[in-house]
Amino acid sequence: MIRLRDVCYVRLGTRDLAGATRYATEILGLEIGERSGEAVYFRSDQREHTLCYVDGDPAEQAVAFEVDTRDELDAAAALLESIGHPVHLGTAAEAEQRKVRAFVAFRDPTGNRIELAWRPATGGRRYHGTRDAGITGFSHVGLCTTDAARDERFWTTVCNARVSDRIGDAPLLRIDEIHHKIALFPTDRAGIQHINHQVASTDDVQRSYHFIRERGIPVVFGPGKHPTSSARFLYFEGPDGMVFEYSSGVRSIADELLYRERQFEFGPKGFCEWGARPDIREFHD
Ligand SMILES: [Fe+2]
Repeated sequence: MIRLRDVCYVRLGTRDLAGATRYATEILGLEIGERSGEAVYFRSDQREHTLCYVDGDPAEQAVAFEVDTRDELDAAAALLESIGHPVHLGTAAEAEQRKVRAFVAFRDPTGNRIELAWRPATGGRRYHGTRDAGITGFSHVGLCTTDAARDERFWTTVCNARVSDRIGDAPLLRIDEIHHKIALFPTDRAGIQHINHQVASTDDVQRSYHFIRERGIPVVFGPGKHPTSSARFLYFEGPDGMVFEYSSGVRSIADELLYRERQFEFGPKGFCEWGARPDIREFHD
């Protein structure tokens, strides 16, 4: 079993690196950690980077998860190969580009590119956002799935994910005490469906709602409250059709023995306790 320690970073291709950089800083509130010729690295917390925009095809997207040891990384690569997921062992240059000591890349059953990272760099300075969005850190991703039951099996049997709740057949998966680090969204494509940053309070969610609307950025869901994780949320559009989310107050599942996953309806009542309706393709039947 592959023990995922935490979600680590997202890499996104874009044809407009300058525009994506402007968005990531001025709208999202991330801090530029570093610029290289064809990539810009963004910080959202104590880590050296949690988002990287790379000059290239927007279909090129990857999400990375940290593993604890080199042995675990090698064992994960062998396991994935043995069950039919070809693994790419990152070169030294590729590891450098990701600010990790080593990594392997593979595709999940839907075709999402997943990277396993060993020893990602921690920043020497504290994160300081470009604007006061209240961001406390990169926290989770929504991943597209073309078969929710099959992908749930992959994440929970090949990896250490556990189901926290299900919305219809779509599981919200945890790898630590946080309610979810991966949310699977049934659809007909591969890709990252949304990228979540936690913010300090509901006030930050509300403040950003007005900030984002005033700048003509489409809000696609919220403000609202997820009945599953209790998080207050706001989803809005980013570059290349990516959806970004701020949320606050996600529940922790401290006692694994006492917790039991719950079933929610795949529809407005399952997505929002306050009555907000999503304007997001993957949230519709
Ligand atoms: Fe989310």
